[in-house]
Amino acid sequence: MTDLRVVGGELMPPAPRKRRHLLSIADLDRDDVDRLLATASSFALSQQRENKKLPTLRNRFVINVFYENSTRTSSSFDLAAKRLSADTMTVKAAGSSVEKGESLRDTAQTLGAYGPDVIVIRHPEAGAAEFVARVTDAHVVNAGDGKHQHPTQALLDLYTMRQALGQLEGLQVAIVGDVLHSRVARSLVQALRLVGADVVLVGPPPLLVPELAPSTHDITAIGDADVVYVLRMQRERMLEGANFVPSLREYTARWGVTPERLRSGQRVMHPGPMNRGVEIDARVADSDASLVVDQVRSGLVVRMAVLYDLLTAGPVPVEAAVEVA
Ligand code: CP
Repeated sequence: MTDLRVVGGELMPPAPRKRRHLLSIADLDRDDVDRLLATASSFALSQQRENKKLPTLRNRFVINVFYENSTRTSSSFDLAAKRLSADTMTVKAAGSSVEKGESLRDTAQTLGAYGPDVIVIRHPEAGAAEFVARVTDAHVVNAGDGKHQHPTQALLDLYTMRQALGQLEGLQVAIVGDVLHSRVARSLVQALRLVGADVVLVGPPPLLVPELAPSTHDITAIGDADVVYVLRMQRERMLEGANFVPSLREYTARWGVTPERLRSGQRVMHPGPMNRGVEIDARVADSDASLVVDQVRSGLVVRMAVLYDLLTAGPVPVEAAVEVA
């Protein structure tokens, strides 16, 4: 008879799988980004069919909690969950008990009591998504926390750039405008570095963050870029009375992205909402160079990929999910 030898720890139950979140681009490595973009591509194919709905996340439950206004992020997460057959619910702070003074902890735990698989949260305070991840049992996706991070925006931007320009390595990207108050810029700079693209920040010196990436006030620097990524002035995050530029008119005159400042072949992106006639000329926004509508389309399939990835624990061939529909 063979002796049964038990090695220490072998009879222990497997450690519970770590709950995965997407709180920051810093949570991802290059393989994660490649996997998410490949998954998004597969979902994009599924969205060309007459029946766009996949059964992949049936019986899963996604709650979107928005403490700040949103058009693109809120609608695309909602649609992404629906296209994957998950149950979905959106709670906006306006009109909720937040207006009666309910704390983030109490709101998160209240919604957590419904047993969501995923909570998608946008909040004006940096760190809010991480806090929700600590006080609930859900997977948490950061849909924007203050001026800290907006990781799914950065992923959809990478996806859009790759679709339009072929490859990300070596791409030159100029981010123009109010970098100081921008979670989009912070996430995007990290994401571009991860995939080997080069970034320069362009704008009024008080609105630049030189620790983030090479910076210049000289708008002609956009001439070297393959992609000119335009940011709006985020006045909702500026302290009252703070004066970063003498006037919006002067901002537009010195840093507005106009057809005259672009060269042929360059592509222009903007996370939205755009202030036409301020940071971006309407002729640019509506031109063939603009990828703004592509960014919105990418948002749907990238957010489908993020939900799928969090709930399936990683690199499961997405073709399998697409085929069974
Ligand atoms: N880019 C972005 O986050 O847009 P919304 O504020 O409309 O979601």
